[in-house]
Amino acid sequence: MKPLPPGSTIGIIGGGQLGRMMAMAAAQLGYRCHIYAPEASGPASDVSAKWVQGRYDDAQALLAFAKGVSVVTFEFENIEPAPLKPLAAKTPLYPPLSALEIGQDRIREKRFAADCGGRTADWAEVNSRADLDIALVKIGVPAILKTVRFGYDGKGQARIMRPEDADAAWEALGPGAPLILEAMVPFQHEFSLIVARDSAGRVAFYDVPANVHKDGILAQSTVPAPDPVLEQVPAARSFARKLAEKLDYVGVFTIEFFAGKEGPVFNEMAPRVHNSGHWTIEGAETSQFENHFRAITGLPLGSTKTRGKMIQMDNLIGDQADDWLELAAEPGVHLHLYGKHEARPGRKMGHVTRISE
Ligand SMILES: Nc1ncnc2c1ncn2[C@@H]1O[C@H](COP(=O)(O)OP(=O)(O)OP(=O)(O)O)[C@@H](O)[C@H]1O
Ligand SMILES: [Mg+2]
Repeated sequence: MKPLPPGSTIGIIGGGQLGRMMAMAAAQLGYRCHIYAPEASGPASDVSAKWVQGRYDDAQALLAFAKGVSVVTFEFENIEPAPLKPLAAKTPLYPPLSALEIGQDRIREKRFAADCGGRTADWAEVNSRADLDIALVKIGVPAILKTVRFGYDGKGQARIMRPEDADAAWEALGPGAPLILEAMVPFQHEFSLIVARDSAGRVAFYDVPANVHKDGILAQSTVPAPDPVLEQVPAARSFARKLAEKLDYVGVFTIEFFAGKEGPVFNEMAPRVHNSGHWTIEGAETSQFENHFRAITGLPLGSTKTRGKMIQMDNLIGDQADDWLELAAEPGVHLHLYGKHEARPGRKMGHVTRISE
């Protein structure tokens, strides 16, 4: 890939906090960003050169947007791939559409993970109330019913702890959307791999954060992860390498794992930068955002080495961001606020990173 010169413009599809932090990293490298999103404005609009409002399924509008940029990427995976095909035929689009197609579909993702030699929770497709009973016999309880597509931050999920919970779970999610029933994986720890891959196939891994979720939303990531997680990192990395090669992936991606009794259990992959990688902004020599742009613009990948001994990233969810002044006053705290106007419960408003030497 010929390196994209500074001063060039990069298109980002999606305008949330990931787009905001992406645009800030791109600016540091001398690039300008144009954002394409359905809303009138968003966290990324404060820090980008242009905001184009358009629907994610409007292939013509996406094509017109791409005319003004040299390369296109995305910060949001819950978009239909088909309307992006005409764009991808004209303008370089990274990561590849195949990664988007797989990463947004929990069934395709699990099949693909298995093809790459990974282990997943036991699962079954659920397309009717009768399917759910059959799936529960096969999988047992506890289990989680999830929408196959368009889930995020624990949305589109219902836990089935006892067989009697099946009706409530079905009422919450069915009928209509395709569903998947997953066995609940018993785990001590969750962790994620944040991986950068360039067009020449070079791969760089970050240190692995251990992640704690509350109500299905990421609450905290810490580096280094505890020993039982570190033992599973080599297996997780060789799996990720295979997955990236099969997709001919370019950019940053993330895989979430459960640290299971017999090794890493694949949970899901995100074909993009990830909340569990926000610690890399101050905690690594090159952030996940910068390395994403380095990969998609043909620059050499930057060092992923961790800075400092212990790093902790805490999300500010809902009214937790009200403490911004106290947090700003705390020595050594790196405060990030996403510029969202309304602090709804469960909404990611910002994050803080603490690094100890
Ligand atoms: N099969 C499972 N076994 C045990 N815990 C699970 C399982 N599936 C989900 N969870 C728990 O719920 C959390 C959120 O689930 P998942 O990653 O599928 O959701 P999501 O909505 O795609 O989240 P996000 O996009 O924010 O990562 C997981 O990180 C884990 O803590
Ligand atoms: Mg997840």
